[in-house]
Amino acid sequence: MSVTTAPFLAAFRPAANPSIVQAQAPGGAPRAHVIVFGNEKGGSGKSTAAMHIAVALLREGARVGVIDVDARQGTLTRYVENRRTWANAKGLATPLPDHRAVLPSTLSVRSDIEADERQRLDAAFADLLPTCDYLVADTPGSDTFLSRHAHTYADTLVTPLNDSFVDLDLLARVDPETLKVVRPSIYAETVWKQRQLRAMSGGRPVDWLVMRNRLSAIAARNKRDMGTVLESLAKRIGYRLAAGLAERVIYRELFLKGLTLLDLREEKTGIAMTMSHVAARQEVRDLLAALNLPLRVEVEQKTDAEPTDQSSPSDPADESADAG
Ligand SMILES: Nc1ncnc2c1ncn2[C@@H]1O[C@H](COP(=O)(O)OP(=O)(O)OP(=O)(O)O)[C@@H](O)[C@H]1O
Ligand SMILES: [Mg+2]
Repeated sequence: MSVTTAPFLAAFRPAANPSIVQAQAPGGAPRAHVIVFGNEKGGSGKSTAAMHIAVALLREGARVGVIDVDARQGTLTRYVENRRTWANAKGLATPLPDHRAVLPSTLSVRSDIEADERQRLDAAFADLLPTCDYLVADTPGSDTFLSRHAHTYADTLVTPLNDSFVDLDLLARVDPETLKVVRPSIYAETVWKQRQLRAMSGGRPVDWLVMRNRLSAIAARNKRDMGTVLESLAKRIGYRLAAGLAERVIYRELFLKGLTLLDLREEKTGIAMTMSHVAARQEVRDLLAALNLPLRVEVEQKTDAEPTDQSSPSDPADESADAG
């Protein structure tokens, strides 16, 4: 694993969890830490959050791979392509992840399909695990074999969730009167099964985070109730709750250029940095910190040095944020 630069420490040090150890392949060789974005509910923000976390890690000097397990839809693939095209057109040295896309099998017999998809997904992971520090996998918003198999690779599983009881329904059934959790629901069961499979194959336990997405700026009752239920559900089905991302138009605008909020400081992006963008960027950084990703061994040894904050004190926007 490579030694990273000081800014890496600034992003990770506050939340670095010394109990999380560097992932190792059988035989002891270091391998990438795998972060899977998953939720059987479509449109919850998996691809958007996956790209933001991948770029946040790249911008901290890490070697990052991304695997599009939803290559038929191809949002993450397109995001990376758009980024490459934009960087080339503008002559920018925009950091790019190492990218693989895994399409669904075209075979017709179920057992053949599963063998084919398993082989191709395993090949993508085998390619990138030894050469990357972090691997980010984006999965489809439905229950497919590819998605389930990708979940078994997760060292960290991130489930973005729109702030709606419609989306929460895939995690748990909730009593409408008392808001008490009646029972876990299908996606929680899927995660439970994949956790079991992983444990049986000798893998380390997965660290599961649920992150709220598209939070409204208004303190509405739904928002408060969702918070209450998600907190009580966390203990029951075994996830950590991350603060998440607010609803902001900028996420939709960045896609065509392949950019993320972490890129907006760079010249020639053509997007003026507003207070809302600064607040949004901070949310992404907070999410990254909440992931508690393992530091690489070399980095950990260097943490006695003063951490260097990447934010420039001359950026007045960093001092405040709006909700926009
Ligand atoms: N915080 C946010 N604020 C505003 N729009 C957002 C936010 N997060 C995601 N979006 C938008 O919501 C839509 C769905 O997001 P995205 O494609 O990331 O979801 P997904 O979970 O990957 O969907 P699918 O299950 O179809 O793969 C996109 O138009 C995206 O730009
Ligand atoms: Mg997607």
